Amino acid sequence: MGLARALLLAAALATGVPTQAEPPHLRQQGSARQLVVGGEPFLIIGGELSNSAASSEAWMAPHWAKLRAMHLNTVLAPVSWELVEPEEGRFDWRSVDSLLRAARANDLKLVLLWFGAWKNSMSTYAPSWVKRDQARFPRAALPDGRGVDILSPFAAETLAADSRAFAALMAHLKQVDGEANTVLMVQVENEIGMLPVVRDYSPAANAAFAEPVPRELVDHLVAHRDALVPGMQRMWLERGAKTSGSWAELFGAGDAGAEVFTAWHFARFADGLTRAGKAAYPLPMYVNVALNRPGRLPGEYPSGGPLPHLLDVWKAGAPAVDFIAPDIYFANFVEIVDWYHRPDNPLFIPEGHNADNPTGPANAVYAIGAHDALGFAPFSIDSVDDNPGGLKSAYAMLEQLAPFILAAQGTGRIKGFKPRQAYDDSLDFAPDVAVIGDYRFTVAYADIQRPVANPQTAGYGAMIIQTGPEDYLIAGQGVTVTFEPVNGGSAGIDKAWEGRFENGTWVPDRLLNGDQTHQGRHIALYAGEWKIQQVRLYTYR
Ligand code: DGJ
Repeated sequence: MGLARALLLAAALATGVPTQAEPPHLRQQGSARQLVVGGEPFLIIGGELSNSAASSEAWMAPHWAKLRAMHLNTVLAPVSWELVEPEEGRFDWRSVDSLLRAARANDLKLVLLWFGAWKNSMSTYAPSWVKRDQARFPRAALPDGRGVDILSPFAAETLAADSRAFAALMAHLKQVDGEANTVLMVQVENEIGMLPVVRDYSPAANAAFAEPVPRELVDHLVAHRDALVPGMQRMWLERGAKTSGSWAELFGAGDAGAEVFTAWHFARFADGLTRAGKAAYPLPMYVNVALNRPGRLPGEYPSGGPLPHLLDVWKAGAPAVDFIAPDIYFANFVEIVDWYHRPDNPLFIPEGHNADNPTGPANAVYAIGAHDALGFAPFSIDSVDDNPGGLKSAYAMLEQLAPFILAAQGTGRIKGFKPRQAYDDSLDFAPDVAVIGDYRFTVAYADIQRPVANPQTAGYGAMIIQTGPEDYLIAGQGVTVTFEPVNGGSAGIDKAWEGRFENGTWVPDRLLNGDQTHQGRHIALYAGEWKIQQVRLYTYR
């Protein structure tokens, strides 16, 4: 039990009044933003359920224990608007309460995904009373006026109804989970974006599009003009950085300006929804994003979501949203996380490929080690819990390392490594170099004597955590690590132990030397199993 929670419990015992814990929240540590739960930082070692799993308690029953046995500490689970508000104003929390019960019984935390007005652009999770009342809850429209299966973000009634339901969910969570803090964070909607055209052409949308670009958006762009994402630089700065005018005048005619318009109005909707939820119970809240494939045009992908080229628009339009979280199903993971990890945006990966993807474990290790990620979750975790592949071994390693990771994030004492892959799957397996403390580490992903990539190389990875002046935890698989002092001389291995942490205590296994360290020249973590070595270096001249 953390100190904060112990004090809280003592206060509750002394007064006899049950005390609500401080809700999970984000806190700065050095350059990192961390999730704090019960007063202690928390690393999400997660997995997201397939979309329909959480709708059935019976269907989920056999999965919980298996997910815990895979060393998950958190499950990302949808909450569907149609299940919790089957009739307007009548709430049914059975689906939520069964998630809480099962998670607690299996020592798991939850991130809840609010599938409200939008899920993957569409509005299929809205209750029947919303779907069927097009007068009150109008649909987005195509240019010829036909409706699509997407609620229009320009309808005040839709925002009001979604907000009432979302706020009711948050109020319920506060009531039933305000002390236990099983729910850590909440995702607002799922993969918002307009399809199959770049903007809504309903009458309300057309009227909004005829208005000038709102002052708040322009002010934000002006205030952040030196730090705008490249896409916004091209659309706005290079077009003359106009401070008033139409969407086309400021951001480009046709789809370019229209997509900025869509992004702004989706962001405003998400902001309103988030505010309503936080007013009831202020958990951290984020919006996830379906990334666009290179070369696709607006309208061909869910347009106006918090995409890389629209991040500034979302930051301006949705300040209540704590961060934007990329769903990454593309091979260029290293490049994408670099776009989304920013001083104003901690990294969290709610969907890191499907759970059977062999690069998932290395992506988790990389995001957490290199980008201080709050956590990582592959998608459809329930589909692999009988056959988890490398994920179980990687998650066992992360579970053991979590206290060291959390202590080091944001301080320069942790780095993560994995080979770079391009969108087209091509692999750059050149070694990576990083300075941690007084040593420079070179991490190679292929045999350093015969450096060729094999099909598994994309799944190799490592993290290095400094725990003392010359002490490091080096953990991973498929890597060879060499080192040299930054201040001259040569580095040798004083000791290298492989082993594991049990309840935070190091349990050494073999003392590695001889062939296992190439006679003192390197640390090798062989492909196959994710392992930890406790290494002490020294300098000689
Ligand atoms: C991304 C969505 O966010 C998920 O809910 C799910 O539909 C997956 N795509 C399917 O690949």
